[in-house]
Amino acid sequence: MTYSKTISPAPTARGRVTVPGDKSVSHRALLLSALAHGETRVSGLGMGGDVRSTRRVLTALGVEIRDEGEDVVVVGCGWEGLRAPAEPLDCGNSGTTLRVMMGILASTSFESTLTGDASLSSRPMERVAAPLRRMGATIETTAGKPPVRVLGGPLHGIDFESPVASAQVKTAVLLAGLRASGTTRVTEPERSRDHTERFFAAMGVPMTISGNAVTVDAGPLRALARFTVPGDLSSAAFWLAAGLLRPSHVARDGGDDGVVVLNALVNPTRTGFLEAVALMGGEIRVHPVSGGVEPTADLEARYGPLRGADLPPDVVVRAIDEVPILAVLATQAVGRTRITGAAELRVKECDRLAVMAETLTALGATVRELPDGLEIDGPTPLRGGRVDSHHDHRIAMSAAIAALCASGPVTIDRADAAAVSYPEFWETLDSVCGNPGLSV
Ligand code: S3P
Repeated sequence: MTYSKTISPAPTARGRVTVPGDKSVSHRALLLSALAHGETRVSGLGMGGDVRSTRRVLTALGVEIRDEGEDVVVVGCGWEGLRAPAEPLDCGNSGTTLRVMMGILASTSFESTLTGDASLSSRPMERVAAPLRRMGATIETTAGKPPVRVLGGPLHGIDFESPVASAQVKTAVLLAGLRASGTTRVTEPERSRDHTERFFAAMGVPMTISGNAVTVDAGPLRALARFTVPGDLSSAAFWLAAGLLRPSHVARDGGDDGVVVLNALVNPTRTGFLEAVALMGGEIRVHPVSGGVEPTADLEARYGPLRGADLPPDVVVRAIDEVPILAVLATQAVGRTRITGAAELRVKECDRLAVMAETLTALGATVRELPDGLEIDGPTPLRGGRVDSHHDHRIAMSAAIAALCASGPVTIDRADAAAVSYPEFWETLDSVCGNPGLSV
């Protein structure tokens, strides 16, 4: 159901917050457990729309996945256990589901069709189809986009230089590589998030990582038995931004306990947001919690002044999903913030560069769109108004945080989009900011 939310300015932000299980890690926990043999008990799985799409697609392929209390148990059946689906596989809004499934289905002995919603149906798929065809699969896209028909077959390894740094592309090709004769190597222009490689290492896949290249040979995935998904750093970024922008008490002599996000993923291929905030002079304290397959930490944001900064491509690639919320921070920073190397944002759930420029301009910010980024001059007082999420979860949530420092209420149309990654976002906003978050 589509709905709008009206968010009032908030004088304060504080609290200790638990965020949903990381979306990228949740997808992989389900997918890779399904492709192993034996059961895996997954705790802390994200329950947003995208992860539910992955679960639905795996179920349609015959994989048994059951809820046990708070956990999800995946009964891994290997590639051999996958069954031809009766109907097209609906990936909803989830690019990760569709692209990674292409790599998984490329080596099956049946035909399948992958579809998605209107947003996913406008996103590029040739970046995955092209290397998989080179490996021997038959893949038909619809003018480069979904629906995508995959006719699986025997594959052979390739040496693939990806033109884009994309973990979805890398993961699809490496998974096909686990089923291909010979060696498969994927080289990226910059290193994308490495969750798949971490799972491979934990699941007994011999692999070589050298610079931006990952090499695998055919081999099985060993079931993990138990896996706990850390909190999503991309979701945490909204609360950290709220803590940077709003004091925890109206009267500063009341102490400042800030906003703390508990047990968030701090994988170094994902922590560009933390580095960007440091470049902007913001303070986020990192209190390590655990090592393991994925490192986690409690993250504590301290209210204080921000300054404009140059956020270069090597930082942005590790903060690609956080650019919208970084843009919100930049409107309140003193001086110019320049974000570059973010051209990929034009082919996300919407054109996030154009839509963030439109959204923040509507609220009174000074934003210039660059071909591959944004230039924002601050600080500008934001005003109330009406904006549209374009049915993109990260736009909806970024607009909500911008609303906290506006001079009047901001109505966000299609606010329901947040549930794609963060179904509890609006309730948590209430508890962090004491904001009524009225539904319209
Ligand atoms: C993801 C990879 C990134 C990211 C997306 C999730 C993943 O996309 O933006 O939200 O889980 O592999 P690209 O692979 O297209 O860069």
